[in-house]
Amino acid sequence: MALTRVVLLGPPGAGKGTQAKQIIDKLGLVHLSTGDILRDEVSHETELGKTAKGFMDRGELVPDQLIIDMIRGRIEAAEAGFLLDGFPRTTAQADALSEFATIDVVLNITLPREEVVRRLTGRRVCRGCGKIYNLTFNLAEGENACADCGGELYQRDDDKAEVIENRYDVYEDSTTPLIDFYDKLGVLRTLDGSAGSECVFSEIIDILTT
Ligand code: AP5
Repeated sequence: MALTRVVLLGPPGAGKGTQAKQIIDKLGLVHLSTGDILRDEVSHETELGKTAKGFMDRGELVPDQLIIDMIRGRIEAAEAGFLLDGFPRTTAQADALSEFATIDVVLNITLPREEVVRRLTGRRVCRGCGKIYNLTFNLAEGENACADCGGELYQRDDDKAEVIENRYDVYEDSTTPLIDFYDKLGVLRTLDGSAGSECVFSEIIDILTT
């Protein structure tokens, strides 16, 4: 039987969003990306979005309780299964999650700092459908329309070199303790994120379906 309560863990740029889109297409899980939800709140200038924006622009984490309150109902509503992307990111968030959901598997995608910086400076995202591109392999310099929907491609505000470095520091300080946390629970599977995207995807599907 397929594993249906899944967490994607990994540093910024490891490929969580890229893999998530393919996994949900194949397995039909509900994709819950705290980064995407927050960016939507920011673009709609909600109270949460206004509070979150400063943290996000500096590459810091949004306070735990705001995130837990934002995501809890969505997880509880996803009865057929969910794919958490970007949550949990601190031990306080992981403790809260364990009170309202049992996790089948945590996919820990690794990527060294230098590769994170290289990837994120080249990332472009479609405003229309959210498709993720990279100047290094599937986008020519100057190309600014999505091949799927024609939407405008943009660079995220937090994909500036100095912010990327801070995001990686925050990942190391606040999120890496979760590797041990989930390993002790026996649900951790680690994948090499520097492998090609198709290779990572096929490894993930093997883990989730066998
Ligand atoms: P969030 O949006 O979650 O950002 P992130 O975790 O930093 O991850 P990214 O989206 O940058 O990277 P990704 O792993 O999805 O990589 P992608 O697939 O795009 O969070 C943003 C901010 O929101 C946080 O900094 C924080 O402020 C706040 N926030 C969110 N959740 C929070 C929480 N739980 N608590 C508190 N605050 C929270 O790939 C990157 C690039 O690499 C792309 O260009 C892609 O094309 C390319 N690529 C992908 N895979 C490969 C591959 N295998 N080979 C080569 N290139 C690849």
